[in-house]
Amino acid sequence: MAQVSLKNVVKQYNGDSLAVKNVSLGVENKEFLVLLGPSGCGKSTTLRMIAGLETPTEGEIYIADRLVNNVPAKDRNIAMVFQNYALYPHMSVYENMAFALKLRNYAKTDIDKRVKEAAQILSITHLLNRKPRELSGGERQRVAVGRAIVRKPMVFLFDEPLSNLDAKLRVQMRTEIHKLHLKIQTTMIYVTHDQTEAMTLGDRIAVMKDGNLLQLDTPLNVYNNPVNKFVAGFIGSPPMNFLKGKVIKKNGGMYFDEGNFKIKILEGMYDKLKAYIDKDVIAGLRPENIYDKLFASNSTPENTVAVVCDVVETMGSENYIYLSTGKHIFVAVVEASNIPSIGSMIEVVFDMKRVHFFDPATEETIV
Ligand SMILES: Nc1ncnc2c1ncn2[C@@H]1O[C@H](COP(=O)(O)OP(=O)(O)OP(=O)(O)O)[C@@H](O)[C@H]1O
Ligand SMILES: [Mg+2]
Repeated sequence: MAQVSLKNVVKQYNGDSLAVKNVSLGVENKEFLVLLGPSGCGKSTTLRMIAGLETPTEGEIYIADRLVNNVPAKDRNIAMVFQNYALYPHMSVYENMAFALKLRNYAKTDIDKRVKEAAQILSITHLLNRKPRELSGGERQRVAVGRAIVRKPMVFLFDEPLSNLDAKLRVQMRTEIHKLHLKIQTTMIYVTHDQTEAMTLGDRIAVMKDGNLLQLDTPLNVYNNPVNKFVAGFIGSPPMNFLKGKVIKKNGGMYFDEGNFKIKILEGMYDKLKAYIDKDVIAGLRPENIYDKLFASNSTPENTVAVVCDVVETMGSENYIYLSTGKHIFVAVVEASNIPSIGSMIEVVFDMKRVHFFDPATEETIV
């Protein structure tokens, strides 16, 4: 049974358009679920409704099988960590962590035990007597998480908790949160617009756009089998390349005709594509599935395309090469030793097993 479930939840802020439109989803016990989507898609609103900080306009929210629509936030047995994890500046780390327990009249010995236990989990025992202003950003972040842990809630809610940190610290704290989840084995719902955070942290990812839940699946399934062009483009970095073209029949096979080149589609995809013969489609291919022919073992004349190399970005571990067909520009990720000269013509191989096709009108995945 799901630990948290939303049934047909709608949120409309006073007369405005819908911030959340008919979202249904279930979060399993001990699961780490990430709500992912661009700014304004309704992630925080969804989380705040679970927390009890907003009331759904329609629909039902259950926590551990209890309908909580009318249960105040403080009685939901959840803890939330926000982006602006304002710590009480005049209190020590210990007092910050103990505060919520004091308010709830926990015994002093119990408070002490819980604070010390949480401090140990978060490796901040040595900071317990400091004031927030004496802490680094990452340490403050840990204290904010500590404040949530001491309550031993049934569900943790995180709303972009790392977005105030610099890039390096964000990666470090991401690992810390991952470890924390493994250690304390509690249901977590984590809001972010960062697809890398979502891919690395989530047991499953719920991708949202414009108040709708588009796809709820494991990171790899979302990456490999996106339901539509938006999800395909949102997950992955650099993002998936999209090329407009047509499906055509030739020599008894099917080809994707970009205008300046044709490539052969694999037979396994024919069935789903036959309704699109001589019609427009959008082909999607991730940068990591395009290879320089000189470095590829699977090239055939039917999957190889001549392109101009416009720009090379050297990343150290790999290179991003920006390529142009005359109609489209797209990017390939190639090995560090592969540095084509700018302006030169090169041949690239498309891994046709990994290509996706989208309907240009609905943007839904065809195959
Ligand atoms: N208190 C509010 N009153 C009116 N409209 C609101 C309120 N809070 C959010 N909205 C609107 O609801 C929509 C969803 O907002 P929400 O904060 O849930 O988005 P988000 O996905 O968390 O975005 P971000 O990544 O920028 O935090 C937005 O259009 C926003 O303007
Ligand atoms: Mg938000």
